Amino acid sequence: MNHQASLIRRGVGALVCAAVLMVMQALAAGAARAADDSLYRALGGEEGITRISAGLVERAYADERIKHIFQETNPRFLAEQLRKQFCELSGGPCKYDGENMKNSHAKLAINKAHFNALVEDLQAAMDAQGVPFIAQNRLLALLAPMHRDVITR
Ligand code: HEM
Repeated sequence: MNHQASLIRRGVGALVCAAVLMVMQALAAGAARAADDSLYRALGGEEGITRISAGLVERAYADERIKHIFQETNPRFLAEQLRKQFCELSGGPCKYDGENMKNSHAKLAINKAHFNALVEDLQAAMDAQGVPFIAQNRLLALLAPMHRDVITR
């Protein structure tokens, strides 16, 4: 084989390598994207999260332990804000545009027992939608650190 042919073969080899690398990178990026919205999908996607948020609000407004805290708040507004927040947190295609957790809960005098009651209501709302236990815990783990901003008493 002459020198020129060998150079051409090397060039083609390098191009094939680059193409293979690009395909692998694209596959890896696709897999990462799929993994990112796995919680969103486990919660039932848009429909599931809409029902979970509505179910949570319904339970909280009927819950003797905490219903007094919701008296001034429009349930439809709250369910919609929670829907957007849970959707974004779980990797779904939404953007939460509401007030931050510190400001929105500052005047509500929420204590640990109130917080735990709401968590129970959320678990019940997820149970009612057949959300698997592992997915429930993943959402709760994302919400748990917010207790610092929500509990003020
Ligand atoms: C991790 C726990 C919690 C999360 C993620 C959460 C999330 C939210 C969100 C997204 C809003 C709407 C904020 C806005 O756009 O104005 C909100 C408001 C509210 N939350 Fe929470 N919340 C949590 C805990 C609690 C607890 C424990 C209570 C009471 C038991 C509570 C009672 C309320 C009330 C009454 C409002 C409406 C405030 C208003 O009318 O301005 N929240 N919450």
